[in-house]
Amino acid sequence: MHTAQHGIFAVGTNSQVYLELDRLPRAPPRSLAQAIANLREPRTTMAGVNLVSGFRPELWRKLRPKDVPPDLLGFNQDLVGADGYVMPATQHDAVLWFSGGAPDVVFDESRLAIRGLAAVASVATETQGWPYRQDRDLTGFIDGTENPTLPEAHGVAIIPEGRAGAGGSILLLQKWQHDTARWEALSVAAQERVIGRTKAESIEMDPKPADSHAGKTDQDVFGNVFRRNVPYGSATDHGTMFVGFCAEQGPLAKMLDSMAGVGDGVRDALTNYTRPLTGAYYFIPSIEGVRRFASPADP
Ligand code: HEM
Repeated sequence: MHTAQHGIFAVGTNSQVYLELDRLPRAPPRSLAQAIANLREPRTTMAGVNLVSGFRPELWRKLRPKDVPPDLLGFNQDLVGADGYVMPATQHDAVLWFSGGAPDVVFDESRLAIRGLAAVASVATETQGWPYRQDRDLTGFIDGTENPTLPEAHGVAIIPEGRAGAGGSILLLQKWQHDTARWEALSVAAQERVIGRTKAESIEMDPKPADSHAGKTDQDVFGNVFRRNVPYGSATDHGTMFVGFCAEQGPLAKMLDSMAGVGDGVRDALTNYTRPLTGAYYFIPSIEGVRRFASPADP
């Protein structure tokens, strides 16, 4: 039996930090896995912090060739869609996602981790996420309405026993910067046509416009994914950290193709108002998969 990393399902946390890391040229892949495995997930009763760690698929495959889906690939090439539209590939070697009840504990733990990894990796990106009006994206719309429920989420996100990478998950991490002025120049009715749902109550439009976001990512077409998106940023520079987990890469990759208008030439209308700055896939091994690289615990 394999155990999935718990933080994937730790909903309701107020504070998030995402770090993407690059291995230093002098550090072999194994030393990066060892250093990450040795980060001890802190546990306190008052303000716990969850840590989810993941690896570039090609790097993990070098270390554990049978413990990763054979067809899983990093985001190694820009995704080019209709009319030359581009989603950039910004793959890094590893990801750490800290989530917790308050920003101070997440801040402390992420700094400790950066220090613990300094000999093997450098920080390539850092993003801080926070909830907006409970469950809304910075577009003002509820994000997550069609997410699987928590009891269903494990089956959607985690690779089942008997398959390569069992207990693991595939993460698509993509940072989207909103063009807030452009978005807010739209009427609420026009925004609703872009999303394909109503703004106040998140009721699905029937029929959904073909180029609406809900239409271009329809899980009845592409399969289910488990989204843990959060808003990020400051008053002048902000957007959505898309954090999507799935037991297979196919649904995530096909949704991106669909949003970019690959195939049908119809781009997701939302892409006129928000822009992907990054794009990376990470393999999130089972707890056992990561721990096998850990040094024996201090007595
Ligand atoms: C700026 C980026 C994004 C924003 C603001 C955003 C926002 C939203 C909102 C407001 C909804 C409707 C409510 C809901 O069902 O959750 C939604 C639905 C959805 N989004 Fe996104 N999203 C973004 C990017 C993405 C990306 C990159 C993907 C996939 C790779 C994606 C996949 C989905 C899926 C699967 C649904 C549910 C579709 C359905 O079955 O009805 N989203 N998103």
